Amino acid sequence: MNLKDKVIIITGASGIIGKATSKLFKEEGAKLVLVDLNLDSLKEVASSIGLEEENHLLLTANVTVEADVENVISKAVEKFGRIDVLFNNAGIEGEVTDLVDTTIENMNNVLDVNVVGVFLGLKHALRVMLKQGSGSIINTASDAGIGSAQGLGAYVASKHAVIGLTKTAALECEDSGVRVNAICPSSINSRLMRSLEEGTGDPEAARKIYESKIPMKRYGQPEEVGQVVLFLASDRSSFVTGAHYNVDGGRLAK
Ligand SMILES: NC(=O)c1ccc[n+]([C@@H]2O[C@H](COP(=O)([O-])OP(=O)(O)OC[C@H]3O[C@@H](n4cnc5c(N)ncnc54)[C@H](O)[C@@H]3O)[C@@H](O)[C@H]2O)c1
Repeated sequence: MNLKDKVIIITGASGIIGKATSKLFKEEGAKLVLVDLNLDSLKEVASSIGLEEENHLLLTANVTVEADVENVISKAVEKFGRIDVLFNNAGIEGEVTDLVDTTIENMNNVLDVNVVGVFLGLKHALRVMLKQGSGSIINTASDAGIGSAQGLGAYVASKHAVIGLTKTAALECEDSGVRVNAICPSSINSRLMRSLEEGTGDPEAARKIYESKIPMKRYGQPEEVGQVVLFLASDRSSFVTGAHYNVDGGRLAK
C-alpha cells in the first residue's frame, strides 16, 4: 500500500472499527495519531496492537469541540510535521426510537457527534493538507447514509449528511492533491450492532433479520472495513474523490 511512515489520524480509535483499522495501518508501518474520549482505552489499543513509542501519539478529544479538534491537528503536526490521512470515524448510533418518540436531545447529540464532529475534522485537517498539497480524508458514513432504517432517524439523517459533506469537501479540494471520500459500512460485528439489536427488544430475532437483509448472509468484520480505508488512504485510489464506498456484503445492491 506504500503507507510506510505516512501520518494517519484516526478518530474513534478505541472503537472496534477504529482499532482494527489502526492495526492494519500499523502493519503497513504508518505513524498513528489515535484519538478518542478516554486515554486509558487508547492506551489499551496502543498496547494491544504493539505501537512503538516514537511512532504514535494518543490524544483525548471530543470531536464536537472545536478546540479539541484543533489541538489534535496541531499536536499531530508538531510531532510528525505533516498529516497524510484523516480517518474521520468517531460516531454514535443514538437511541433506537421511531421519529414520533425521538427526543430533541437524542437528535442533537447524534447530529453533534456524527455531523459536527466530521465537519470539524474536515475543516482543520484540510487547512493543513491544502497547504501541503496532499492528503486523503476518509469519513465514516454508513449504509444508513444512503438508505434508511426504522427507529434510527437521527442516525440516518446524520450519515446522509456525512456523504453530503464528503462530496462538498471533495469539490472544494479541486486539483489540490487532496482527496476526500466516505465509506458506508453495513452491519459490522460490533458493540454498535448489539446496541441496535437490543434496541428492538428482541436481539436474537433482530440479528436474524439484519443478517437476512445482507446478500452475503453475515455481518462484516471490522478488518473488512479497515481494508477499504487503507485503499482510500493510499495512492492506489489516486483518481478517487467525492466517492462513497459500500462495505456491506451487498446490502445496498438489493
Ligand atoms: N458497527 C457497525 O455496524 C457500523 C456500521 C456502519 C457505520 N458504522 C460507523 O462506524 C464508526 C465506528 O463505529 P464502531 O462500530 O467502531 O463503534 P464504536 O462504538 O465501537 O466506536 C466509536 C468510537 O467513537 C468514540 N466517540 C464517540 N463519540 C465521540 C466524541 N464525541 N469524540 C470522540 N470520540 C467519540 C467512542 O468512544 C468509540 O470509541 C461510527 O461512525 C459508526 O457510525 C458502524
